[in-house]
Amino acid sequence: MSESAVEWPAVGLTLRVDGHEYPVPQVWIGDSLLAVLRERLDLDEPRDGCSVGECGSCLVLLDGRPAAACLVPAVAAADRDVRTPQDAAFEIARDAVAASGASPCGFCAPALTVAITDLLRRNADPGPAAIREALAGLVCRCAESGRWIEAVARAKEFGFESDADAGAGIGDSGEIPMLVIDAGDLA
Ligand code: FES
Ligand code: FES
Repeated sequence: MSESAVEWPAVGLTLRVDGHEYPVPQVWIGDSLLAVLRERLDLDEPRDGCSVGECGSCLVLLDGRPAAACLVPAVAAADRDVRTPQDAAFEIARDAVAASGASPCGFCAPALTVAITDLLRRNADPGPAAIREALAGLVCRCAESGRWIEAVARAKEFGFESDADAGAGIGDSGEIPMLVIDAGDLA
């Protein structure tokens, strides 16, 4: 019996990434946002550490909320606001991560940058426990959490301004949510 070729459903969509619109034709409906950002838009960040939602290295902001891009179907991100670590909004945190040596090998620096920015927007003055809790979803093989605490302090030194209203709806636990989509997005 001959095997027939399987035709995977594909759609065209528009992604809004870091303030720019990118039409992307022929996206397989199973493709993750991470795969499309890296393989179709040729972005080096976010990083791909595991592809299955376990390492946190693919962190982006989706409509202002942190999300693991490897767990978000690209079709669910269409026409929504996607901010990668390369966005200008993360500049202060990026400088702080570099200045504090919080990411020695650099692999997790992009996600750390997004996570610190999100934390400081919600909490202008997080203590060590809040910082460790907020960054607990990020797997880093190189740095100890003392460097993360220093990076947060540097971001404040460098003039990071918290948004007092940004905490609404994000939750107080500070954990990095690994998936932030509504089931209705997939309809
Ligand atoms: S790549 Fe590891 S959580 Fe997404
Ligand atoms: S700095 Fe190397 S994995 Fe985090």
